[in-house]
Amino acid sequence: MVGSAETVFALRSVGKTFGQGPGAVAALSGVSLDIRRGEILGVIGQSGAGKSTLVRCLNYLERPSSGSIEFEGTPLESLDAAGLRALRRRMGMIFQGFNLLKTATVLENVALPLRLLGFPPGEVEARSREYLGVVGLSDKLDAYPSQLSGGQKQRVAIARAIAHGPEVLLCDEATSALDPENTEAILRLIAAINERYGITVVLVTHEMRVVQAVCDRVAVLDGGELAELGAVVDVYADPRHPATRRLLAGILPREMTASLIDRLGVHGSVYSLTFRGQAAGRPALAETIKSFAVSANILAANIIELKREPFGLLVIAFSGAKAEVGRALAHLRELGVAVREWGNEHERD
Ligand SMILES: Nc1ncnc2c1ncn2[C@@H]1O[C@H](COP(=O)(O)OP(=O)(O)OP(=O)(O)O)[C@@H](O)[C@H]1O
Ligand SMILES: [Mg+2]
Repeated sequence: MVGSAETVFALRSVGKTFGQGPGAVAALSGVSLDIRRGEILGVIGQSGAGKSTLVRCLNYLERPSSGSIEFEGTPLESLDAAGLRALRRRMGMIFQGFNLLKTATVLENVALPLRLLGFPPGEVEARSREYLGVVGLSDKLDAYPSQLSGGQKQRVAIARAIAHGPEVLLCDEATSALDPENTEAILRLIAAINERYGITVVLVTHEMRVVQAVCDRVAVLDGGELAELGAVVDVYADPRHPATRRLLAGILPREMTASLIDRLGVHGSVYSLTFRGQAAGRPALAETIKSFAVSANILAANIIELKREPFGLLVIAFSGAKAEVGRALAHLRELGVAVREWGNEHERD
């Protein structure tokens, strides 16, 4: 077994190629990562990056062309048909398209898979009602999918995916078909289910906003490769890969260009300041400007709410005597603010 006891999935150099010869597509190549018990892991990347292929490999709907995947220490390639069925019982999956049975009621949509899995009739009924209650649909048991909103349909799909008590919930663009309000409500529901049942969640999305709302860690896929993996706050504070920076560009002003800074007629040295947790809420900057003989020109600012803590990024031009600016920056660092000189973002602080 590779990975730690808290590792649910261990992926090692996973590759998946579709087709052969010149037309072959490498959907995944060399992907190695551990998925930890109880976490919500976001998997993000542009269209075609390999996100769906990756989640489909986790339940072996797709077989990797190379590398290995272990689930709780068992190599998936060692499983026969019965073993794979048993594996899939330990997982639930939801999609963008809901995939509900149109001719069955809400209750039946949840009950049917339970019956197929061999739960006794009494338990089928009890579990269906219980989990439809968990997702807030106790008053819609007899409705048909056509009578539900998109958000309600996704709630049915979630109840169906978790009613058999899986250890893992795989979500592939589960909120992409929903408006912002329903997206938020569904994400809150997934987070609540993760907390309440300790289910490990793998959440595929192409939107960073989805990642920041509910994920503990994020894996960035780019062209089938794992571009970046880390705690959401770390990746937001210091995105290393161009693909990550691209995804974050609409959220944080980090990508403000040198030419824009030029055109703003900025005097002084430009720094980016990232505030995490407590520091994001403290008027650290105002206090620093009062205490030192420097002036600050804020070029861009944004504070966002991550799952576990607030996070802020400011782009600032400081002017004043060089030594005084240096002291002000040192003071900011003492207050827990990460300071980087503009254009030298990878400089360690
Ligand atoms: N069954 C298949 N046969 C051939 N090529 C495939 C197949 N499934 C996926 N691909 C190709 O593999 C690559 C990755 O596809 P995948 O569906 O995993 O991307 P994705 O990140 O989920 O994209 P999207 O955001 O559009 O859903 C794409 O180039 C796709 O065309
Ligand atoms: Mg996809």
